[in-house]
Amino acid sequence: MKGIVLAGGLGARLRPLTAVTNKHLLPVYDKPMIYYPVRTLVNAGITDIMIVTGGNSAGDFLKLLKNGRDFGLKHLNYTYQEGEGGIAAALSLCEDFADTDPVCVVLGDNIIEGNIRAQVASYRRQGGGAKILLKRVPDPQRFGVPALDGRRVVRIEEKPAEPKSDYAVVGIYMYDAEVFRIIKTLKPSQRDELEITDVNNAYVARGAMTWDELEGWWSDAGTFESLLRASRLVAATGANKLDMDGAKPEEEVLNAAGA
Ligand code: DAU
Repeated sequence: MKGIVLAGGLGARLRPLTAVTNKHLLPVYDKPMIYYPVRTLVNAGITDIMIVTGGNSAGDFLKLLKNGRDFGLKHLNYTYQEGEGGIAAALSLCEDFADTDPVCVVLGDNIIEGNIRAQVASYRRQGGGAKILLKRVPDPQRFGVPALDGRRVVRIEEKPAEPKSDYAVVGIYMYDAEVFRIIKTLKPSQRDELEITDVNNAYVARGAMTWDELEGWWSDAGTFESLLRASRLVAATGANKLDMDGAKPEEEVLNAAGA
């Protein structure tokens, strides 16, 4: 299985922090944001990794990450997304890299407390199709939100005003090689992007989508509030832990940190 970190886009919601640099180079507590999604893949045993960057300071990713030695890697792959065509558009740049292998895609601003080893193993056993990870959140309207019928995903809505569940779709996705054919059929959304939610709904329509619940805290870091929250959570507990024993509910973590 190959790994992909999507760190393109313009980070407009974080201006002026992103006026001259790339959102994924900003600090989340004691590390640049991009470290966390790379670590998520490496901790799951995925070592053949592509970084899709874009916008400002693209060359700084190479300066920072080099060949991935900080992560125990021998080599990293890089590509560049022009403009802000959406998450699925960024993913489409990785078709040659994937070369028909399944891929685990992590959004560059998604940070997790734990690890996804069990979920990656379960996707491998599934033998094709797609898997998403879900997490209960107090503000699902900020995310992709599934309508569920037991273990079945009925449909996913992107940032719905009236969410059909209190689950958010986490920015970690597992796909087979069909994903690149699906992306070629997509039309831009109202925000003029190729949406990852449309990709996921194509798998749902084929009956080829499974989901697991993510353990431990999860935060995006694409708004001022979530960037601060992510830093506080990392400062309080650390991120990308291999051992999840003793993980506490996130409100408890934040309260204990005096927030
Ligand atoms: O954080 C999880 C959420 O991420 C999901 O629940 C949503 O379904 C999904 O659409 C996405 O929502 P956002 O609107 O928060 O995504 P955002 O535009 O902030 O992009 C998230 C990351 O994806 C960003 O840090 C880098 C990458 N990206 C995004 C765009 C728009 C790219 O690489 N290229 C892009 O053109």
